[in-house]
Amino acid sequence: MKFTVAIDGPAAAGKGTISKAVAAHFGFAHLDTGLLYRAVGAKVLNGMGALKAAQTLEAVDLDGDHLRIPDVAQAASKVAVDPDVRAALVAFQRQFAARDGGAVLDGRDIGTVICTDADVKLFVTASSEKRAKRRLDELNAKGMELAFSDVLADVEARDKRDSERATAPLKPADDAVLLDTTDLTAQQAIARAVDLIAAKYR
Ligand code: C5P
Repeated sequence: MKFTVAIDGPAAAGKGTISKAVAAHFGFAHLDTGLLYRAVGAKVLNGMGALKAAQTLEAVDLDGDHLRIPDVAQAASKVAVDPDVRAALVAFQRQFAARDGGAVLDGRDIGTVICTDADVKLFVTASSEKRAKRRLDELNAKGMELAFSDVLADVEARDKRDSERATAPLKPADDAVLLDTTDLTAQQAIARAVDLIAAKYR
């Protein structure tokens, strides 16, 4: 049985938390597609060409805390502007989405490009201050000490680049349900997402 949930939205809006929780709730597989771009970005920082990195990406490249640092996030959003890099990553994402047993993919273009026929599409947002605060807490928890203003600038620069690029820009699909998590706890946001999916998944 194929059932696809597409979860898009700007940086640190809560996509990852919601995606993991709904995947666990329904027993679906989960793919954080940002990791693909982060892994390519990390290889570019190490001197590899972006297209070659995208074409030769392996599962082992998607692991590790080094992918979470802000420099890698910025590098990811720079390589993500390149249509050839994006094209090189499409087949893997679509195969993942089509797997038996259901799949949740989160990213920026899942509902608009990768899985236009997804069974459920969510667009998760929150104010940039709230998103930067959550990202700062996450990084602090991993032992990385950063200034709030730097994290906010990072989040806003990436959102601008992601929204303004010509290929697969960050935007809600016409048939996406908007979920603003600014004033929601993680549990409340997850509960809303679970209800929306449960209404379609029987
Ligand atoms: O979601 P995450 O913050 O890990 O994504 C890192 C970067 O990867 C984003 O800023 C965006 O430029 C890019 N990305 C993308 N399309 C996706 C997922 C991520 O362009 N589906």
